[in-house]
Amino acid sequence: MRSSAPKAVPRKASGKTTGRGQATAKVPPQKVSQSELQLRAILDTAVEGIITIDEQGRIEAINRSAERIFGWKSPEVLGKNVSMFMPSPYREMHDCYLANYIRSGEAKIIGIGREVVGLRRDGSVFPMDLAVSEVRTPSRRLFTGFVRDLTERRRLEAEVLEISEQERRRIGQDLHDGICQQLAGLALVTHSIEGKLRKARRPEADQIARCRDEIAGIISETRRLARGLCPVVLESDGLMAALDELARSTHQPKRLKCRFECPKATPLGDSLVATHLYRIAQEAVNNAIKHSGAKAITITLSPVDEGLHLTVSDDGSGLPDSFPPNAGMGLHIMQYRARLLGGTLAVRPASPKGTSVTCVIPKLALESETPR
Ligand SMILES: Nc1ncnc2c1ncn2[C@@H]1O[C@H](COP(=O)(O)OP(=O)(O)OP(=O)(O)O)[C@@H](O)[C@H]1O
Ligand SMILES: [Mg+2]
Repeated sequence: MRSSAPKAVPRKASGKTTGRGQATAKVPPQKVSQSELQLRAILDTAVEGIITIDEQGRIEAINRSAERIFGWKSPEVLGKNVSMFMPSPYREMHDCYLANYIRSGEAKIIGIGREVVGLRRDGSVFPMDLAVSEVRTPSRRLFTGFVRDLTERRRLEAEVLEISEQERRRIGQDLHDGICQQLAGLALVTHSIEGKLRKARRPEADQIARCRDEIAGIISETRRLARGLCPVVLESDGLMAALDELARSTHQPKRLKCRFECPKATPLGDSLVATHLYRIAQEAVNNAIKHSGAKAITITLSPVDEGLHLTVSDDGSGLPDSFPPNAGMGLHIMQYRARLLGGTLAVRPASPKGTSVTCVIPKLALESETPR
């Protein structure tokens, strides 16, 4: 903590603390400044950004990593309110939050830690991990925040998902353009053999007809797989059409009702947002089919004031009380996708029964989305 390292204060052998809260007794002056230097060196070589504030939220110290992360030099920020490192609306809420904590002891981050959004000097925002600990000295309270910039981690996560998306599309296209075409050729051959056998009144005609029907079944199953891997409508008609198609292909009269509701047109073409939302809906639908024994699944896409809501709800058995240790990846990947878009994903019990998966994407992500 470079700039706020304890100042050289006259030391009395009283055992009390100074106004700045440093213990002064029994330690020879030379030793204290040596240990201060060591402390500064340790804090300045820490990978995490470290910020110390007082009870009013005024910055007392930042280390080198914090300078790098936020783009400010230590002397430029000392004494200023730490909310300068936060974008709106968190900036406005911070003082209240701190005052509330000091009054009531009710912690939202202090001692807990969580992912929040930081603001750099150049005005850009970024995801960061923040853990705050409280330091009490006999005379005052300080708060130390440990900050880790998650930009690179998020970028890599996005890249991994993007690569897996490309791979899915490639496999989907290969299935559609390769295997489906070969099977279609085979179906034509069997059709023509069947015709010849029927002409010759041969009994094998029925056998070959069954083969032809089998092949037709395999073609439609392979097409269904290909569509799931590479939703063609997502490329041409956008998210609404792709979700509608997902509901249609899931719907099985008499066994499973699946419908798509879109109370207000939501024109989202082929884009990163559309792809992630489609995959979230697809996984939620698959989960409902696989795990819940649902009789009805509803996919809803609705624009709201804050952005966009995607909900998949089922009337099945509901989430288990605890997840098996070998539980899959689906829920995690849905969470990742929502986070990558700056949104949130909640999996809750539905009413009166079943499960509801809701993804909320903020307006900002919809406005700034880049076409794929
Ligand atoms: N709609 C649902 N109804 C009931 N249980 C569900 C539902 N969705 C998820 N679950 C439960 O949550 C667990 C985790 O789901 P998740 O999608 O992460 O993994 P998975 O479906 O088991 O495997 P994977 O998605 O990797 O193929 C499931 O094993 C299941 O017990
Ligand atoms: Mg799953």
